[in-house]
This record gives sequence, C-alpha cells and structure tokens, in this order.
Amino acid sequence: MTLNTLSGRFALLTGIFVLLAEVLILLPAIANYRLDFLESRLERAQIASLALLATDESLASDLESELLSNAGVFNVVLRRNEVRQLVLSSPIPGPIAATYDLRAQPFWTSAKNAMQQLLDPENRVIRVIGEPVNQAGQLIEITTDTKQLRTEMIDYGLRLLAISAAFSILTALLLNVAAQRMLLVPIRRVINHMTAYANAPEDARSIITPTARLAELNEAEAALAAMQHTVTSALKQKARLAQLGQAVARISHDLRNILTTAQIFADRLETSEDPAVRRAAPKLVNSISRAVNLCETTLAFGKAEEPAPSLSRFNLSALVAEVTEAEALAAETADDAPAIEFLTDIPAGLTIRADREQLFRVLSNLVRNGRQAIEATRKPGTIEIGAGEDEQEWFIRIGDTGPGLPQKARDYLFQPFSGGSRKGGTGLGLAIASDLVRNHGGRLELLRSDEDGTQFCLHLPRDLAGIALREEAAVE
Ligand SMILES: Nc1ncnc2c1ncn2[C@@H]1O[C@H](COP(=O)(O)OP(=O)(O)OP(=O)(O)O)[C@@H](O)[C@H]1O
Ligand SMILES: [Mg+2]
Repeated sequence: MTLNTLSGRFALLTGIFVLLAEVLILLPAIANYRLDFLESRLERAQIASLALLATDESLASDLESELLSNAGVFNVVLRRNEVRQLVLSSPIPGPIAATYDLRAQPFWTSAKNAMQQLLDPENRVIRVIGEPVNQAGQLIEITTDTKQLRTEMIDYGLRLLAISAAFSILTALLLNVAAQRMLLVPIRRVINHMTAYANAPEDARSIITPTARLAELNEAEAALAAMQHTVTSALKQKARLAQLGQAVARISHDLRNILTTAQIFADRLETSEDPAVRRAAPKLVNSISRAVNLCETTLAFGKAEEPAPSLSRFNLSALVAEVTEAEALAAETADDAPAIEFLTDIPAGLTIRADREQLFRVLSNLVRNGRQAIEATRKPGTIEIGAGEDEQEWFIRIGDTGPGLPQKARDYLFQPFSGGSRKGGTGLGLAIASDLVRNHGGRLELLRSDEDGTQFCLHLPRDLAGIALREEAAVE
C-alpha cells in the first residue's frame, strides 16, 4: 500500500484527520480534568474545615496537619459572613506563584492555564479560590502545590492520546476496507475493461455494461460504454471503407487498361474515310483520355490525397462549354427527362489559372448534381453558370432551379459518403469538388438552397503563394 495509490492516500488522510480531531478534543479535556481536580481539592478542604467549625475549639496541631494533608492543601480560608476566617493552616514551602479564581473563569483562560501547568516542570505553590459546595459560605480559598496535579494531568493526557491513536487506526482501517469495497474494486473493474477493450476495440463484446451501484461511477461507465460504441462502429465503418477503397482501386486499375485499349482504337478513327466519323473522333479521344485520367487519379487517391493541382492558364468559358455540352447530352439521352436549359454568363476573355482537369471535375460534379435534382422533379428547369473576377480571386457561381438540398445533404455538406440521398449516388461528388477547390487554396460554399433552387459559389485565389502546386508552362 504505497502513498501514490488511492487506498494508501485514503488511509493516511483518514489517520491524519482523526488524530487532528482527537487533539482538538484533548486540549479541552485536559483543561476540564484540571478544573475537576482543583474543585475536588476545594471540596476536601471544605470538609476538613467544617470539622473544625463543628468542634468550635482550636484543634491540636497534629490533628490539624493530618486534616490538611488528607485534603492535600497547606491551608484553608473559609469566608462566611463577610469575615475572612483562616480556618486551617500549616507552613507553606515557598512563595505563592499564581492565584486561580475558579468562580468566573472563561474556557480559554482555563485551557491556557492548563497548558502552562503542563509545560512547567517546577513544583509551585498556587492559591485557588472557589465557591463552597452547598453555599456553605461565601468563598473558599486554599493553597496547594502543583506536583500531583501536573502528574495526573500528564497521565490522563497520555491515556487519552493512546485511546485516540487506537481509535484513529481502527477508523482508518475500517474506512480503508469500505473504500476498497465501494471504490477501488469498481474502479479496478473499469480499468480491466478498458485494457481488455484497448486490446480488441473492434470486438463489440468487450464494451463495458454499466453495473456500478455508485451513481458517479455508473455515470462514468455509461459514458465509457457510449464512447466505446462510437469507436467500435467508427472502426467497423473504417474497415468497410478500406475494403471499398481497395475494390475501387482494383476497378479503376482494370478500367484504365480497358480504356487505354479503347483509346488506341479511337485514335485510328481519325484516319477514317467517313468525314462524320473523322469529325467525331477527336471528341471521343478526348472523352476517353479524360476517363483514363480519372482512373489514374482514383488510383493515386487510394495511395494518398488528390494530386497537387497542376496549374495552367486557360479560358474559362471554353471549359464551362465543355461541361455544359456533356451534361446537355446526358440530359437529352435520359428517358422522358424534362427540358433543362443551360445558361452561361461568363466574360468571353476571362482567363483563369488552375488545374484544368480538376476544375472540369469540380464543375461537372456541381452541374450534374443540379441536372439530377431538376430531373428528379420531372419539371423543366434551368442551370445557370456565371463567373467573374476581382483583385483577389476568380469566382464561379453554379445555380439551378431544383428543389434544394435535402436536410441530410445540408447536415453532412462536403463530407464523403455521408450526405448522399440520391438513388444511385455515392455521396462523393460534393466532397471531391470541395477537396479539389481547397487544394487550389480556394473554397466551395453553398450560397443558398431552398425550394426555388440551389446555388454554389467557387472561389479561387489569384495569389497561390504557399500552396503546393505543380506549375506548368502557361497556356493562353
Ligand atoms: N444542386 C442540388 N440540388 C438538390 N440536391 C442536391 C444538389 N446537389 C447535391 N444535392 C444532394 O446532395 C447529395 C450529395 O451530393 P453528392 O454530389 O455529394 O453525392 P451524390 O450526387 O449523391 O453522388 P455522386 O457521388 O455520384 O455525386 C445528393 O445525394 C443530393 O441529394
Ligand atoms: Mg453528385
């Protein structure tokens, strides 16, 4: 039982507190003992002097000194009827050192006198004044010495101290046993659970079940159980995501290989006899190489984060046209899809600096979300893309007239796998878009979303200092 354990400290503190309490009792007890002692002296002296008063004659000196020594005093003065009467007397061995009037002594004075008496080893003569018992006079005064008084006070104090010590040790032991049963055993149980849980956090069986009867401990166990539930399910989800990630990586890998073959065939179409095929060929090649790129990026994502943006200067309206053309095509080919109008409001000469491929993905994701939201309403709608610039940044606004973001998508905005509620969606589009914009040092924000539609705004800073970028030869 060392002092840095709970039980050790508990025992030590209990011992100290009980002893402290006992010492506080000891002082008044010794003071009272002294008062009792002196009062009994007064009483005995009174009885001795009454013997003399009864005979009404002067006593033989032998008898007088016997009476005095029986009472333990040198002389007695009993005052009756205002006359001071010296009743019994014998020689006093020394000068009177102090006079104590017991009739009106406050507690603190008698406690102080008791302490002085204890600390003074000399045998001194003292005078004690008190009231005679049964009002047999007005006052009684004796002289006596302090030797016996002091010896008895020390004896009494030591006895009391020994009892206190025994009492405090017993109390400390009892409290310690109680603390062991009530606190330490349940705390040890929680610690054992925590250790077992730390060894196998995925195992839901090692989650603690709150059983402690002590309310505070039970609360702690309940909080621990809640935390363990969260950690275990987060770990399970993480494991599932890791498996999903591996599957995606495998699919991307094989898809890239298939697309690379398709790309080779598409290249050959450029030399076709048919002019219509020749015209379509570059678009097909472009689409396929974009798909290959995406597969490669997905593979890279499996290993690390998105690659750092590879910057180039390019015309924004051309990029937006590519996005809207692809989405318009997708809208037309969908069965019984409502009419969707694509409006763009971008200054013709607006050139921005960003990773063209990544920005294409960001805009595609946002425009596609808008299109899918409008299609889900089965009513015609509009998607509008506007852009502009100021001294600090370029900004692009993408708005639609769809039904607005569902609550879940708002709660988990930009969080992967969490906010998706669209059938067939993975809930990754917005998270990827916001990640890519953040990698540019910019931000994607939701401007508004209500029953009239949704609008996002994308901010790209002009000053890209401090961001890890791969700068490529500027293409105007
Ligand atoms: N413009 C929008 N209007 C209405 N709801 C939207 C809009 N954009 C996103 N949402 C909602 O937010 C959810 C999350 O969108 P997000 O693009 O992240 O995932 P997704 O579209 O479900 O799947 P995917 O990963 O294929 O894009 C969607 O399921 C959809 O419910
Ligand atoms: Mg989406």
